[in-house]
Order: sequence, then structure tokens, then C-alpha cells
Amino acid sequence: MKNRISLPRVEGTASRQAHADLPPGTFEREISKEGFFGPAAFFHHRHPPTGWVNFEGPLRPHAFDLNKLDKSQNSPWSAPTILHNAHVQVRYCTLETSMDHLARNADGDDLLFVHAGMGELFCDYGRLSVTAGDYILLPRGTMWRFENAQPLALLMIEAVNASYSLPDKGILGGHAIFDPAMLDVPQMDAAFVTQQRDDVWQVKVKRRNSISVVTYPFNPLDATGWHGDLCVVRINVKDIRPVLSHRYHLPPSAHTTFVGDRFVVCTFVPRPFETDPGALKVPFFHNNDDYDEVIFYHAGDFFSRDNIGPGMMTLHPCGFTHGPHPKALKNMLVQSKPATNEYAVMIDSRDALEIGDAASAVEWQGYVDSWKEK
Ligand SMILES: [Fe+2]
Repeated sequence: MKNRISLPRVEGTASRQAHADLPPGTFEREISKEGFFGPAAFFHHRHPPTGWVNFEGPLRPHAFDLNKLDKSQNSPWSAPTILHNAHVQVRYCTLETSMDHLARNADGDDLLFVHAGMGELFCDYGRLSVTAGDYILLPRGTMWRFENAQPLALLMIEAVNASYSLPDKGILGGHAIFDPAMLDVPQMDAAFVTQQRDDVWQVKVKRRNSISVVTYPFNPLDATGWHGDLCVVRINVKDIRPVLSHRYHLPPSAHTTFVGDRFVVCTFVPRPFETDPGALKVPFFHNNDDYDEVIFYHAGDFFSRDNIGPGMMTLHPCGFTHGPHPKALKNMLVQSKPATNEYAVMIDSRDALEIGDAASAVEWQGYVDSWKEK
């Protein structure tokens, strides 16, 4: 039995409500356990906690421009690995043309996020149209391929040796953020039947990150029907209805979309800014002391980040103090826009992430200095 130490106290000149009514001229920094769910302390600093003049050593933030990666893949299994550890693997896959084979992941569930393009997914369960902004959850073992209408750019998030689930919505109720009835599933329609041609097809199976190739004299996506309670599902970011408070800046955990083992996937979508005069309107400074934080920027204006555009990814390792960039901090005081206009995918990992070689090659080396006042 463990009993968490809980001792709400207030010391010195401080606000009593987190993220609100900060003492004039101060910058709030949160130290928190368990990714904003656990015990936390809120400090009121005289200087922005990101105001360093020099930063040395291995605890560094990273930013990668995934737009600069090689785009010549025809298979998800030749897509470069960006970040990885024992529980999550993140790849970035660009399919300029339709896949000429089927893929199957025997290592874990894959969550695809369609950053760009559109096409048709053909899989064991049928056919599903996909477009930018779609999340597609492929249960481990599913055979699948894309027929492109436009080149596809996919963020692939693998739950290594594990399954995805939906977050517990708690007091919000199960139909908040998105209703499970909004999850689309593939159809066994005429287009699915038409592609069941008797020509030679290969299935490239990934197991323990090695590829085996199985050749059939027919298209193995030849099911006539199925039943069960496991399926490919899709939801588009535009169908996510974020929770918000006009009086309180909610932590990123309020935007959790999918849950893996020892990591979560959250989605930032447009939402009105807080209107309470005392409420913080940009993310608070913090270290997220138990998690590595990854954000993939999909579309829109990234309101707390300067010089970050669509197709880029940042990694803020556990223990690295971060928060809004200087421009965003200034804009907060003269708020002209009524709402954020950003779409981004966040991955919070309980274990440290390793950086793949391909990601290192497209790293923005000056990112650690991007919090400096220009
Ligand atoms: Fe963060």
C-alpha cells in the first residue's frame, strides 16, 4: 500500500489557484509528477524560466524538420524511425505513389496520423477513404495498403508489443471530446470486392523490426465478411471537440486521444482562448518531470511557438524546462485573436526516447536558443 504525500501549502507571495491570478510581474513554473495528474508545485519567478544565456550538456530540446526527410519510400517499413524506445516507435512515412504490396505489423498496434494527402485504405476489414487530419488505428496483425489519390505523408506511432485504448473520460462522461460512435470503420463495398484480383501479391510482415515477405498467387484481402469486436477505426481531428474552461488553462492531459502502454497521444485542435482576466492564456512553464514530450505540428499557427511550421516535430526531454516562446508570451498580454488555430499531435512518453539517425540529419541545431529574446 502506498499513500501519496499530499500537503497543499502556500509560501511567500503566491497565487492559490494554479494558472491564474499570478503575482504581478511573475512567471509561473510548474513542477509536476505523472504528467500533470500527480502532485505539483507552482513557483512564481521574477524571470522567465527559459531565460538562459547558455545551455551545455546532453539534456537538450530538439526540433526536427520532417519535411526534409527522404521521400522515396514505397513501404511503411522503409520509413525512417524518428524516435523510439521499448514502448513506442515513431516513424515518418512518405508514400509518393500507391503501395505495390500489403503491410502487416506483427510488433504492435500502429496509429497512423495522416499529415498530408488522400487515398483509399484497403485492409482485412474492407475499404476506408483517408484524408489529411485522419487518425487510423490499425490493430496488430492487420494487412493493409494505400491506393493514393495524392501523395501521403504519415506519422506512424507504434504501441510496441501492446494495444491502444481510449482514455478514461472520468467526470466528463464517455461521449465528451469525441463520441465513440464517431469512429468510422472500413466497408466491404464494391471497391473492396473489385480489388480482390487473382494476381501475385506480397505481404511484408514486420516482426521484431525485421521484414519477412509472404507471396500469394492472389490478393489475400479476399474476405467476404467478418464479425467481432476488433477493427480498424478512424477519426479526423476536425471531429474532436476539445474541452476548455474560460477561467482556467487546462493541462495537455485534457486533450488525450489515445492511450498506449507507458505513453499517451494527445491532440491540440482550435479552441477559444481563456477570457478570465486573471487566467493564463499560454502554456505554463514546466519540466513535465516524469515524461518526454513530443509534438508534431500538423496545421495552423502554433500559438506558443516561434519559427515552428507544419511537418516539424519537437522533443522536450523529461526535466527540460520549457514554455511559451518570447513572442507568444508578449502576445498573451495583448491578445488580439479570440481562439487558437492549431492542429498538433502530442506524444508523451514515460520512458526516455532515443533519436533515430534520420531525425538527427534534419535537426534544427539552434532550437535550444529559440527562447532567447530577439
Ligand atoms: Fe510541455
